Amino acid sequence: MRYLTIALAKGRLANKAMEMFEAIGISCDEMKDKASRKLIFVNEDLGVRFFLAKANDVPTYVEYGAADIGIVGRDTILEEGRKLYEVMDLGVGKCRMCVCGPESARERLEHHELIRVATKYPNIAKDYFYNQKYQTVEIIKLNGSIELAPIVGLSEVIVDIVETGSTLRENGLMVLEEVCGLSARMVVNQVSMKTENERITAIIKKFQSYLKKNAGK
Ligand code: PRP
Repeated sequence: MRYLTIALAKGRLANKAMEMFEAIGISCDEMKDKASRKLIFVNEDLGVRFFLAKANDVPTYVEYGAADIGIVGRDTILEEGRKLYEVMDLGVGKCRMCVCGPESARERLEHHELIRVATKYPNIAKDYFYNQKYQTVEIIKLNGSIELAPIVGLSEVIVDIVETGSTLRENGLMVLEEVCGLSARMVVNQVSMKTENERITAIIKKFQSYLKKNAGK
């Protein structure tokens, strides 16, 4: 039997996803050894293997079929724009993509002024301002601690993830506009969806009933 390969975005999301896979009977003991430097973890009995990758690389592995299934945030899926099927909302890692800044930026935003937007998500920001708001802005790509940008005068606003809102509050910033809601998603390679349809559909169905059972918990 060919291995079914599952790519997980490293970090908190991978741990949550593994809890879910275990709950539906797809466990991987090899993965529990935190000291291990192994990159790929196999369950020989089930013919399934998992690997951890940087979130941004998960859609790439799935598009090219190096992974049949991927678990990754919607932010990454939108930003990467890869060809794949997004089959399920896992309902975890819920947060929002927002335009944020100081109160003083609100008016400039509303008047469609040519402002600077700092973000780790240039494609999402471009789509939002150019295709949805028809507003010309200058987008500046950063790699982290995005909230710094308006504080030190690099940009007027940022497009970034807001979860609890505490990073914004502690830095005198606020949500000015909401771009979209986010959460963890299951994605599937388009060819695997046909060639491995039976196994993949079985996993999707089990996940769906697990999510239904645990709804509201
Ligand atoms: C994310 C995001 C915000 C923060 C939002 O950053 O970019 O900075 O979390 O969370 P909050 O609303 O609960 O405060 P992350 O910690 O992933 O690091 P980064 O700044 O390097 O992107």
